[in-house]
Amino acid sequence: MIENKLEKVVSLCKRRGLIFPGSEIYGGISGIYDYGPLGVELVNNIKQEWRKEMFRRHEKIFELDSSILMQRRVWDASGHTSAGFSDPLQECKKCHRRYRADHLPKENKNKCPECGGELMEPRLFNLLVETHLGPVKDDSSLTYLRGETTQGIYVNYKNVKTAMAAEIPFGIGQIGKAFRNEITPGHFIFRMREFEQMEQQYFVKPADADKYFDFWKKERMNWYVALGVKEKKLRFQPHTKEELAHYARSAEDIQYDFPFGWGEIEGVHNRGDWDLSRHSDFSGEDLSEIDDKTGGRFYPHIIETSAGVARSLLVFLIDAYDDSDKERFVLKIDPRLAPYKVAVFPLLANKPELVDKARNIFKDLKMTSLNVAWDDRGNIGKRYYSQDEIGTPWCVTIDHQTLEDGTVTVRDRDTANQERVKVIELKNYFEERLK
Ligand code: GAP
Repeated sequence: MIENKLEKVVSLCKRRGLIFPGSEIYGGISGIYDYGPLGVELVNNIKQEWRKEMFRRHEKIFELDSSILMQRRVWDASGHTSAGFSDPLQECKKCHRRYRADHLPKENKNKCPECGGELMEPRLFNLLVETHLGPVKDDSSLTYLRGETTQGIYVNYKNVKTAMAAEIPFGIGQIGKAFRNEITPGHFIFRMREFEQMEQQYFVKPADADKYFDFWKKERMNWYVALGVKEKKLRFQPHTKEELAHYARSAEDIQYDFPFGWGEIEGVHNRGDWDLSRHSDFSGEDLSEIDDKTGGRFYPHIIETSAGVARSLLVFLIDAYDDSDKERFVLKIDPRLAPYKVAVFPLLANKPELVDKARNIFKDLKMTSLNVAWDDRGNIGKRYYSQDEIGTPWCVTIDHQTLEDGTVTVRDRDTANQERVKVIELKNYFEERLK
């Protein structure tokens, strides 16, 4: 019951081609999902908004696209091959199901939630996904699929700084896949084994770290709010000493009130000088900087903002999913994120003159930056329903009046109000509203 809304969103995603279970015709694969045609659009829109925010609105943040596979020693330096990137795992002695010890209900710590069997003592389980590179599969060819995109940024810190003549403070950001052998993936796309991150590392002088930590916390929270997420559903949650990752001096999660409880959607971390000092030690490349006042050397401190594409997507969908209106269901997602911006319909599909005119308008709009849908099935009411369900902000209908005076009706998703707009003004009309 409590996950009812999540189930509704899962069903919408499957039905309307947003998200499919991975390898579904083979029975699925735990913690892996595929994006369908409308999911790709939504994901790309989320990434585009993040890119606009990080690389256009902010100054001196540079984009990188580093590789998924790196030298194995990168993960020794980062601490991922040690206990720091491990979760406590408990296995049932009877049915051999495995659980994350910290996710088990406190009152029933040592009992299997499925069969009631006794659980073994917790042991640490490393989350890195292993692979081998090269023709011989032995220990020397072992490496990992990256567990976070972060490390590719640190490895390229000097390259980017030199190439871009960047002075501290500056940032490097990237979007890319990460892999974790999660013990208990779940809550749909909330916890997966293959997912994408949108991460940014901001390099600062040690004395400025606290100031930028506060700055980035606010900036990142505002991003979700500006994209329409209800403020009362968002909060900061500071990490306790026990929860702090091995690298972090202080950290706060941005959490959302999901149907299954509050959950992290983004982490803002003050990583201190852990990363660049460790990579200097392990690689032999000196990544420290000279303090222009004292002449001494220091390692830049890092403020990290680390968001997940899928978790953001889940937030945007759940937050926009409101079926309280019994008359009609509308996915009230921010128009900038909506998979389609506009849908074009001929009022009657059996009138060639209307269909031809509508096809021309559809083709012209498609040549703009807008993603436009075409629909000539069923009646107009069904078409509106179908577009409302996937959050298309505007529907354009071509009717007999269009042939006479060159105007169409534009119907607004949220109000269902209609107005007549000149065909030649459509592009500007939508672009203005998308700003
Ligand atoms: N570089 C720091 C880092 O990776 P994290 O808190 O482990 O920190 C950051 O992850 C973000 O990545 C999370 O807030 C979440 O949005 C996303 N993320 C992490 N693990 C995930 C998983 N198993 N499935 C989906 N998203 C995940």
